[in-house]
Amino acid sequence: MNYFERSQPNYEAYLRGEKPLLAIESSCDETAASVLRGGREVLSMAVHTQIPIHRLYGGVVPEIASRSHTERITAVVTEALDKAGLTLDDIGAVAATYSPGLIGALLVGVSFAKGLAFAKDLPFIGVNHIEGHIAANYLTYPDLEPPFVCLVASGGHSHIVKVTDYDEFELIGRTRDDAAGEAFDKVARALGLCYPGGPEIEKLAESGNEKAYYFHAPFNEGEGFDFSFSGIKTAVMNLMHNAEQKGESLNAADIAASFQHSVVEALTRKAVRAAKQYNSPVLALAGGVSANTALRESLKTACDRNGIRFCRPDMKYCTDNAAMIGCQAHYRLIKGFRDDLDLNPSAMSFLAD
Ligand code: KG4
Ligand code: ZN
Repeated sequence: MNYFERSQPNYEAYLRGEKPLLAIESSCDETAASVLRGGREVLSMAVHTQIPIHRLYGGVVPEIASRSHTERITAVVTEALDKAGLTLDDIGAVAATYSPGLIGALLVGVSFAKGLAFAKDLPFIGVNHIEGHIAANYLTYPDLEPPFVCLVASGGHSHIVKVTDYDEFELIGRTRDDAAGEAFDKVARALGLCYPGGPEIEKLAESGNEKAYYFHAPFNEGEGFDFSFSGIKTAVMNLMHNAEQKGESLNAADIAASFQHSVVEALTRKAVRAAKQYNSPVLALAGGVSANTALRESLKTACDRNGIRFCRPDMKYCTDNAAMIGCQAHYRLIKGFRDDLDLNPSAMSFLAD
């Protein structure tokens, strides 16, 4: 019997809802595993973050990330199973993020999942990381279903997406340069803050005046749905360089608050306009930047004003985790998709290119 035939009974047991799914995420600097039942019921989550390791270098070092995933993945998967009170024999399907991300990091999760699938006769499915971030909203809102418009803002991507079905997406807008999270990380670095910069800027911004400086990228005022965050970042850098040359000192909290305000404004304006133009009753938010309170509040206020329902993931599902990957895997599996063991990870993919 080949692998597909051997794993068919478990696939059928999964589709009947008799067995849960094990999901793995390793696309960047978090090694994560989660066990879910029926797509939206999270039985357990385990996350090992590499942030303290990469902080020494001011950003993610891909080779170090791959090695750390290799060292941790067995313990993280074991922790997720233990927390769910299950063993591998109870699992009906296995999923892993296969794209986009750091290729060496993706390889660890995908290879581990394929190994489990082969050894335990489990159906295997690769999941797109961005689709996973979008699915984090299904975990938070049990009644949420496509179609809806979603703003995805992470360290590598800034997209406005029309989610036409669980596995069908239309790209409405995207960043022309830096991703929103990337701009947070770069400005934080210039201000001497730690990696990752988003939470650090958010903290510093609390004591700053968001109107102290006007950082703006004219591109974001255009009619289209694409963004530019590099323009906003450059405006910050120029201010800092000019002050340095003149020997003037600046208030870092005011810079953080004004920068955050500018990014939040650009994201809010375009995302809400997209939801209106596409007649979407819902605007969802996804990706690591969705943890930003100023962004959540700004989108909520704008959506309320326009009669649009605003959805955002619970904090624990905002940054990289495996529960969101398991949720998206479920919707692909029940549509009849499954991958063969020759699936290769890919650094870039449709939603990312
Ligand atoms: O989704 P994610 O965990 O990883 C990627 O898929 O990229 O996103 C990480 C990004 C980083 O750039 C980080 O600075 C940003 O999300 N981020 C935030 C916040 N928390 C994480 N940005 C702004 N405010 C936050 N609270
Ligand atoms: Zn992510």
